[in-house]
Amino acid sequence: MDEKEFYRIQRLPPYVFAVVNDLKYRARSAGEDIIDFGMGNPDQPTPKHIVDRLIEAAKEGRNHRYSVSRGIFGLRKAVCGFYKRRFDVDLDPDSEAIVTIGSKEGLSHLALSISNPGVTVLAPNPTYPIHVYAFVIAGADIRHVPLGPGIDFFASLKEAMESTWPHPQVLVVNFPSNPTAQVVELDFYEKVVAFAKEYKVMVISDIAYSEIAFDGYRPPSILQVPGAKDVAVEFYSLSKTYNMPGWRVGFAVGNQRLVRALTRMKSYLDYGLFQPIQVAAAIALNGPQDCVTEIAQLYQDRRDLLLDGLGRAGWEIEKPKATMFVWARIPDEYRKLGSLEFSKLLLQEAKVAVAPGIGFGKHGDDFVRIALIENEHRTRQATRSIRRFFNAGADVQR
Ligand SMILES: Cc1ncc(COP(=O)(O)O)c(C=O)c1O
Repeated sequence: MDEKEFYRIQRLPPYVFAVVNDLKYRARSAGEDIIDFGMGNPDQPTPKHIVDRLIEAAKEGRNHRYSVSRGIFGLRKAVCGFYKRRFDVDLDPDSEAIVTIGSKEGLSHLALSISNPGVTVLAPNPTYPIHVYAFVIAGADIRHVPLGPGIDFFASLKEAMESTWPHPQVLVVNFPSNPTAQVVELDFYEKVVAFAKEYKVMVISDIAYSEIAFDGYRPPSILQVPGAKDVAVEFYSLSKTYNMPGWRVGFAVGNQRLVRALTRMKSYLDYGLFQPIQVAAAIALNGPQDCVTEIAQLYQDRRDLLLDGLGRAGWEIEKPKATMFVWARIPDEYRKLGSLEFSKLLLQEAKVAVAPGIGFGKHGDDFVRIALIENEHRTRQATRSIRRFFNAGADVQR
């Protein structure tokens, strides 16, 4: 059987980012130096005290056995402690928290747990692909809700809900947003919770970037809204907060029914993370948090450097208040190329790789996403190179 005949595989379109990745790979193989802002993959190491605890725990034989699928109690307790300190939200480690193998795994298996054909999911567009494809894989239908600068997300949401029948049963929200870096305040979540209760919708919130925030901004959690637990579950990731993307640690907290569904699903699928990783993850959450401040500061400095440099190149971009991304509207003279062609051009002419906005959904096609994962020196080099490319006026139909 050809893989194209498999039902779920057929539902997965070719990966847009693969086009730029492939070009990048070929340029590098030809010896070119490409400055890579493409992927949201933190370039800094995990803080030392977390790595040290992993090493220590890895030496203990009892940590080599199968662990617990929903996560060891100590980590679930640390998760609840973190939510209490950070958001003043009370959670029960047994019924309202579950450890996941990165938030991506958790989101995917929650989607699988709660979807059946005929279920429609409201997902922002553009958004981080798993918010959509977790549900596509699970067999649900998607209703895209436009998101971006100048768009009233809440108005789009209402419109999507009211024009879809049967009404969607699930809503995904992700603020600070990947890729748009859009942020919200608590009153936004108050409206989302009221909306969810009115329309009987389950809300899945993803706050992977809640700690990567700048200029004093502190992103809220949906669970801070009284009664949110009746309708919402929230995913959190240690990948960005503690520079731990390769460790694959995340968790979900909130609504007991949703946590229970995910717990049941995972009990069939996995035996939990390697226990030393869980022990070290608990230290990350319970331990000193200055490392988090330093990580956010690094992205803030890079953001300023990048946007100042691009400003000098004539590319004015609004400063994001959070995330490790800059969501940059393609300059007027290149916009009609679309984000994929513009990204290719940047790669070929300026030797700079970015992620085309179309890869996050059709409403992203006027933008590219620039991940703040190159150091100061390389970031400066990239802005100079983009300026030279703009000044030279590339061979495009304007
Ligand atoms: C919004 C968002 N959610 C989830 C994830 C995945 O995080 P994890 O490493 O915990 O799977 C990412 C990773 O880039 C992300 O940007």
